[in-house]
Amino acid sequence: MNQCNPRAIKHINYKKMKSNLITKITLFGLLLNGFYVSAQKNNLQVDVAKTVTKIQPTMYGVFFEDINFAADGGLYAEMIKNRSFEFELPMMGWNQPNSDRHKLNNQSGIANIVQYSKKGTNHNYCRITINDDTGFELINEGFRGMGIKKDLRYNLSLKAAKESGNISKIKIQFIDKNKNVLGETSIVPTSNDWANYTTQLTATATEAKAKIKITFEGTGIIKLDMISLFPEDTWKGRKNGLRSDLVQLLYDLKPGFLRFPGGCIVEGKTLALRYQWKKSIGDIEERETIINRWNTEFANKQVPDYFQSFGLGFFEYFQLSEDIGASPLPILSCGMACQFNTGELVPMDQLDPYVQDALDLIEFANGDLSTAWGKVRADMGHPKPFNLKFIGVGNEQWGPDYIERFKVFQKAIKDKYPNIKIVSGTGPFPDGDYFDYGMTELKKLNVEVVDEHYYKSPEWFKENATRYDNYDRKGPKIFAGEYAAHPKGVEDGRKENNWLSALSESAFMTGLERNSDIVELTSYAPLMAHVDAWQWAPDMIWFNNLESYGTPNYYVQKLFSNNKGTDLITITKDGKAITGQNDLFASAVKDVNSKEIILKIVNTASADQNVAIDLKGAKLEPKGTALILKGDGLNDENSFEAPTKISPRETEFKLKSNQIQYNFPAYSVTVLKIKMK
Ligand code: AHR
Repeated sequence: MNQCNPRAIKHINYKKMKSNLITKITLFGLLLNGFYVSAQKNNLQVDVAKTVTKIQPTMYGVFFEDINFAADGGLYAEMIKNRSFEFELPMMGWNQPNSDRHKLNNQSGIANIVQYSKKGTNHNYCRITINDDTGFELINEGFRGMGIKKDLRYNLSLKAAKESGNISKIKIQFIDKNKNVLGETSIVPTSNDWANYTTQLTATATEAKAKIKITFEGTGIIKLDMISLFPEDTWKGRKNGLRSDLVQLLYDLKPGFLRFPGGCIVEGKTLALRYQWKKSIGDIEERETIINRWNTEFANKQVPDYFQSFGLGFFEYFQLSEDIGASPLPILSCGMACQFNTGELVPMDQLDPYVQDALDLIEFANGDLSTAWGKVRADMGHPKPFNLKFIGVGNEQWGPDYIERFKVFQKAIKDKYPNIKIVSGTGPFPDGDYFDYGMTELKKLNVEVVDEHYYKSPEWFKENATRYDNYDRKGPKIFAGEYAAHPKGVEDGRKENNWLSALSESAFMTGLERNSDIVELTSYAPLMAHVDAWQWAPDMIWFNNLESYGTPNYYVQKLFSNNKGTDLITITKDGKAITGQNDLFASAVKDVNSKEIILKIVNTASADQNVAIDLKGAKLEPKGTALILKGDGLNDENSFEAPTKISPRETEFKLKSNQIQYNFPAYSVTVLKIKMK
């Protein structure tokens, strides 16, 4: 019997083994097949060889507006609020706790406001009367306090003129809320005429809500003006410059452009309160302080102490653009005040000065020293041109009044400066009557760039990843000039910049990038917000008087901007762009300078997704770098305590025969970078 035959037994065992093996292979095959099917479900193809379009260097930029204390109280490092007593209530920001205005005869001293003149730009000064040495104090509260850092130095300057008596010393001290002194210095006033004095204080402790206390020795009357205090540590160490931590965050974005000064601030609530660039340059003392239009815009977020000193003015904006490697993109009033407010209009026959402002600005930025405005720029310390290429006419205007005015600007600018690109706008909404009318009319005028704005829900952003897929390729280029996903409505916008908002923006941004043949400029808005003095949220960067941090939205912007590449290539699934199939969104570029392929994959699903990506058209290194950005959950945020909680983490991955097999985590943005051989 076979069973007794050792060979037969071996044979039987062999048969058994074979059958087991077949079972195992089959099972493995099934498993493999399952895996293959799931990978195939998300099998993406990248064509490296074919450039779809060049990516403009301006593709990812920043939008700056003095909203949320972003300039005065923020980027502009001045620490004294109302330094020249020019606010509507001229003592706003200043306290004199020991003076008793009612007991005129036995007060230790008093500070009064005196007007030099109603004319000009610097109207007021502060007149101090010191009667005795019982302790008159003049205290400035700063912008919701002053942030001081132990051992850092602070430059104080003021103008003073002795009027009578002999005030022999002005003492200046940092104090905390308990009036503990955290650093001090003094000035000896010598002149009866106005004179400038400077001194320096070193902080003896770190304090987020310090104040400046000014006291006097001797009795008499002294006049003070332009009491100013800056940290020595400013961006590039410039005197009276910008907060270095905030500029560093901008610099790290490698922005393609800097749009300034807004936003609605360009338009003003009234024409008189529009942003006038000529009033924002030259001697700082002569820059007229005006109300910031955001001070009482929202009933539930009143900031009556919000004014514009214009210490950060157009010269500084141009300089900042240059510092951070961004193309300057100024936006000017087109003769229409904000249509959400008064909507005041300049009559057409009085539009000339507005148009002239635009022409002069181009000369200010680019003119050589033989031109009037080029000379002004040079006298301010920048003989080299600022290389202005764009100018915006109007911010969020709509309707025929805008088109009528825009035409006049367009003709004048193009006649004189045919190479300057003019940015026009479609109003505050990304669709609807205003938008459709604006776009139709602007197209008739053959405009070059149209600015679109959208503050929408996270869902809208995901759904609109295809927004530009069917845009007219022969029409104007697009500037996605203001956008942000609002988990709550704009009016109810809370401080939150959660991962949900950032993730949905990233999905949308793959659509911007995939359409970079027409989308040439994009910027998140608003850029910055003071945590104790904001009006509008979410915002990309939050700060207090000591610290700042980038939100998850900031890191999304940074990932895209730092990896924008030079050439758009295709990433597809079954020949179609990846715009939300299986909750995946994707775009791909190559960088001909760094010789890299860069893939941006957004997984908006609640589960990880394993994806196979085939790359054809180039020989690739077998290893790549992955930058992964994700939150712990959709409500996760960064904060002062954990400023980089949601920020990119870097790992390596392997390629096999030009294929990447990658597990994209749930709710994540991943940038895959592969070097070409
Ligand atoms: O970014 C905040 C505001 O939103 C801008 O000032 C304005 O242009 C838009 O309505």
